[in-house]
Amino acid sequence: MTMSIQQRNEATVHPSARLSGTLPPSGDKSLSNRIGLLASIGKGISRVEGFLASADCIAVLKAMEALGARTHFDRDGELFIHGTGGKMMPPVGPLDLGNSGTGLRLLTGLLAGSPVTATLTGDASLCRRPMGRIMEPLERMGARIAAQGKGRCAPLQVTGTPLKGITYELPVASAQVKSCCMLAALYAKGTTTIVEPTPTRDHTEHVFQRLGLPFSLEENRITVDGLGPDGPSVPSCNWRIPGDISSAAFWLVAAAAHRRGAVTLERVGLNPRRTAVIEVLKRMGARIKVTTRKQDEKDVEPHGDIRITSSKLKGTVIGGDEIPNLIDELPILAVAGACAEGETVIKDAQELRVKESDRIQSMCHNLLKLGVQVEEMDDGMRIHGPASARPGGVVDSFGDHRVAMAMAVYGLLSEAQVTIKRVDCVETSYPAFWEDLVKLGGQVE
Ligand code: S3P
Repeated sequence: MTMSIQQRNEATVHPSARLSGTLPPSGDKSLSNRIGLLASIGKGISRVEGFLASADCIAVLKAMEALGARTHFDRDGELFIHGTGGKMMPPVGPLDLGNSGTGLRLLTGLLAGSPVTATLTGDASLCRRPMGRIMEPLERMGARIAAQGKGRCAPLQVTGTPLKGITYELPVASAQVKSCCMLAALYAKGTTTIVEPTPTRDHTEHVFQRLGLPFSLEENRITVDGLGPDGPSVPSCNWRIPGDISSAAFWLVAAAAHRRGAVTLERVGLNPRRTAVIEVLKRMGARIKVTTRKQDEKDVEPHGDIRITSSKLKGTVIGGDEIPNLIDELPILAVAGACAEGETVIKDAQELRVKESDRIQSMCHNLLKLGVQVEEMDDGMRIHGPASARPGGVVDSFGDHRVAMAMAVYGLLSEAQVTIKRVDCVETSYPAFWEDLVKLGGQVE
């Protein structure tokens, strides 16, 4: 299937007679971003297999190139990063992180205490997202950050300044805020302690550990020993990044809810802080088998294969501490809820309102438009499934990649075609999504 970027701006997905096959989903976005950032300030050349070459992660690499790193992919898609060896160059012009909230927030942390001045910006969606949540702890550490957008939003002008260690209790369960503080803490004088009220994804901790960076973990407290304005000495390293469970989740739900679904996802990351979607689907009655693979020295985290077959799904309640560990899977879990017998409730998920779009509003609007009974709540939604008829129709991605892909899966499960407007955003996290949909037996125009 060959589609140009322009043609991709609208996609029509047809109901599919079967959904089966085997795929490795594309590489983990969170790990790609962290490894991309840290290898770029490292010594020598790091090699990365499975790096996600999506718009978000490429924006991070481009920003790091503007700070002095060099990167290239070989013919097999392996990424080579020539690090700056610690000293970053002052960039010419603003660093444009596109749609990448992780990129902008983590890079702000990395730059806050280093002797560089830079402006970090992004697309319209990113410039609407809250940056006060990172500015607050960074400013307490002594950082100088000027938000040029209204209401403490990007563009952010960061003037690298000597930082001091602090103790900071995260007011929101956010791995991005935690990771931003951990990166800034490396350049501070003294110790920084970050306290997490609810556990969030811990990829930064895994990458720090692999690189021998000075930090320790005790229950919900992360302590980083600051190295001052020269920052850390990051060794070069060879990495292999597993598939992204957030991308795999689209096919997990598609196969579970389809009458004739049987899909195997290979080499998917199985970090326990990311796998709550598997537990929720099991609770909904999905038939899932997970087989872990052996981890070698390049694999920074556990990974394995997930086999999922059709089943009759039933509603469930998703909330509490599991939310941060499936935050990006909530749009596709809303689709699972629409196909399940009984009520599915998503609660405690206010964070969805400040993602690439307001995902509570985007998903409720789209599902309602397609005849699903769904009620919007402040912190989630209540879905009454199963939609008795799934008539198809036209919906919008609201510029949000995960909304676009969730609605495409709904199209595979419908009785008539679903057209999704503005689907070019899928490039941000899963450029092979449409090809994979076709590989599994789906049809898209
Ligand atoms: C991410 C953390 C999550 C997630 C985002 C990626 C990360 O955001 O939604 O897509 O890589 O750290 P928050 O930590 O802000 O919830």
